[in-house]
Amino acid sequence: MSRIFEEYHMNSKNYHSQNKFEPIYKIKEIDYSKKITSEVKDLTPKKKYQSYKIKSNRKFSNKEIDIEEILKLIQTTYSIDSFNKSSIPSAGEFYSLNLYVVLQNVKEQKKGLYLYCTRTKKLRFLRKQVNNSYLPPTNNFANKASIILIITSNLANLYNKYGDRGYRYALLEAGHLGQNISIYCSENNLHACPIGGFYDDLLSNYLQLGRYEFPLYMYAIGGVE
Ligand SMILES: Cc1cc2nc3c(=O)[nH]c(=O)nc-3n(C[C@H](O)[C@H](O)[C@H](O)COP(=O)(O)O)c2cc1C
Repeated sequence: MSRIFEEYHMNSKNYHSQNKFEPIYKIKEIDYSKKITSEVKDLTPKKKYQSYKIKSNRKFSNKEIDIEEILKLIQTTYSIDSFNKSSIPSAGEFYSLNLYVVLQNVKEQKKGLYLYCTRTKKLRFLRKQVNNSYLPPTNNFANKASIILIITSNLANLYNKYGDRGYRYALLEAGHLGQNISIYCSENNLHACPIGGFYDDLLSNYLQLGRYEFPLYMYAIGGVE
């Protein structure tokens, strides 16, 4: 028997043979000409910390990137210490996200699939295979990235505490981590593009995920030309 969150996941998968779906209604533009606040002031701080500026970049340098640069990015954006102090909030403190790393063009490193371990702050080598067939043609730009970060969630603990609502929390946590990655990259001269479009089953097979671990989000990241 499948649970509601599994049904939801199943029904929102991408497939090669998918048909376009009909929009459910015509979206009306919101009328912003109506004044909502009595006085409109620009309150963004003027000096260093202006409002965050992040940009999706799909062009990557051919130059190999240093592994230190990758580890710094990952350790900064996804950290959990032994007191559960972490770079992202986590419902129930389950930290259900896993971060897989495909090294494609990194100096002196074996190409292949790795898993990031937040406790040891190291990458664990899983296998040599780099197989991006889970990407649709529109996202082929990721083949040229130095690395691809893949965020998955293991739903078991979230489900046991929150039931199907745990699926929402998994998506929200992936968004928190994604935002950290976007901000880090834009502040550290790395090109990055978030990717939600991938063939779920091909990606799950590539990562060899178990029944309750789902791929949710990914980032293509590389150096600037
Ligand atoms: C949840 C999510 C999924 C996305 N998926 C893709 C994707 O599959 N391919 C892609 O090229 N861009 C993807 N993007 C990036 C958006 O296209 C991009 O953020 C948007 O065009 C705005 O541009 P900007 O990020 O440069 O401001 C995604 C963004 C989000 C937030």
